[in-house]
Amino acid sequence: MNTTDDLFKNVVSHAKEYGFVFPSSEIYDGLSAVYDYGQLGAELKNNIKTYWWKAMVQLHENIVGIDSAIFMHPKIWKASGHVDGFNDPMIDNKDSKKRYRADQLIEDKIARYEKDGKTQKAQELQKALDAALQEDNLPQLKSIIEEHGIACPISGTRNWTDVRQFNLMFATKMGASAEDADDIYLRPETAQGIFVNFLNVQKSGRMKIPFGIAQIGKAFRNEVIARQFIMRMREFEQMEMQFFVRPGTEMEWFKQWKENRLKWHLAVGSDPIKYRFHDHVKLAHYANAAVDIEYEFPFGFKEVEGIHSRTDFDLKQHQTFSGKKMQFFDPEINQNYIPYVVETSIGLDRMFLTVLCNSFEEQDLSTEDKRDSRSVLHFHPALAPIKAAILPLTKKDGLPEKARTIIRDLKFDFSVQYDEKDSIGKRYRRQDAIGTPICITVDHQTLTDDTVTIRHRDNMEQERIAISTLRNMIEGMVGWKTLLEKL
Ligand code: GAP
Repeated sequence: MNTTDDLFKNVVSHAKEYGFVFPSSEIYDGLSAVYDYGQLGAELKNNIKTYWWKAMVQLHENIVGIDSAIFMHPKIWKASGHVDGFNDPMIDNKDSKKRYRADQLIEDKIARYEKDGKTQKAQELQKALDAALQEDNLPQLKSIIEEHGIACPISGTRNWTDVRQFNLMFATKMGASAEDADDIYLRPETAQGIFVNFLNVQKSGRMKIPFGIAQIGKAFRNEVIARQFIMRMREFEQMEMQFFVRPGTEMEWFKQWKENRLKWHLAVGSDPIKYRFHDHVKLAHYANAAVDIEYEFPFGFKEVEGIHSRTDFDLKQHQTFSGKKMQFFDPEINQNYIPYVVETSIGLDRMFLTVLCNSFEEQDLSTEDKRDSRSVLHFHPALAPIKAAILPLTKKDGLPEKARTIIRDLKFDFSVQYDEKDSIGKRYRRQDAIGTPICITVDHQTLTDDTVTIRHRDNMEQERIAISTLRNMIEGMVGWKTLLEKL
């Protein structure tokens, strides 16, 4: 196993050990590609959501947020094209009986060629894949798999079925009795909840174009093959924003949102070298331009967010299918039109994984005399699940009581944690491992002069400060302003 595989394995086991992410239904051996967020994971996830919501809704006068239902009228998915076109090309290996996405098998081969320094072969294969996908040419995908000798990772054989399309939507029934129950779908994207509320929001909020509607919510996809932990799940969360613009201006807005969104990613302290844009060759049925923001995970560059220029496709389709006019009267040009839409769509779980991978470090702290190491999560302080740990140096002499008075003062504004078990060194390490930016130690001196020791997570340096200055100090480190003013 190479070091990047090790790194990812360590991130996954760290996430479980410290209560960030658990496999769903684990005591029943789990449910494939479904995960639960633990006590710290839920906090981190909430903080990422807050960061996105504040950056998109609170900082923009012309963007508002909604929360639409997961269940929607089944016609919506016909109108959006999902019933007929939301497919992945799948292929089965006849020996292992395992199912794969044909395009992903080929992408893995491209990555292997690149790793082996066969750059030209990788480029040729990428071109062939793009062409086959663009033409929806399923037999061609199979030919590529055969020509490049791609084998099933489980059976090792090349005994493949034909490539077929597989619809990714989950269907269920709605209704009291089986006879009159209607087939409905679990939404595969949150965006349609925004489109069908376009008129409601525009009218009730007296919104003028350009304006945006943002939403955070669950989405469901019956992925052919789900892998790489929370990267590709069957139940996941999206943070999407549809920006409604005057037709003809969509490319300017597309460019602006592309830059704006990359800035949002970098503001949390990620290394810019770990990010890149990937322009789509095969455009989705609704788009006239599309780009992915990719992050370099330990297993390679992968999409975290998509920015799509969706034209007027969705509103036009809903106008046709519902019979309701989806037009906006633009007083500046005295014209009615169906707005064009630029969408930003980020997977919350993928962002979570980005933050985890980007923050995780195993540091060797050994000296000549002593071997030592620590696992640390260098979260941006605003995203950290716990902002400060309050630690009495010992369990006696009134130190726990003093520590509790500090907690009582801070807990209304910050998520803080009390810990008195084990040596102070061990307690520091536990907080490093969950990414707490500062530890506040209460010692005997605290009882005489109301000062505490602050120990910083990243450089492990310590300083003595007055309890009266704690609140401002913490706010200056972890407050949302520290992050949002970079945007
Ligand atoms: N409304 C447009 C849309 O849904 P998408 O590229 O299919 O576009 C947007 O999805 C984002 O949702 C992706 O960039 C990714 O971060 C996230 N996403 C998509 N499928 C996912 C899955 N199965 N598991 C986790 N995240 C997923």
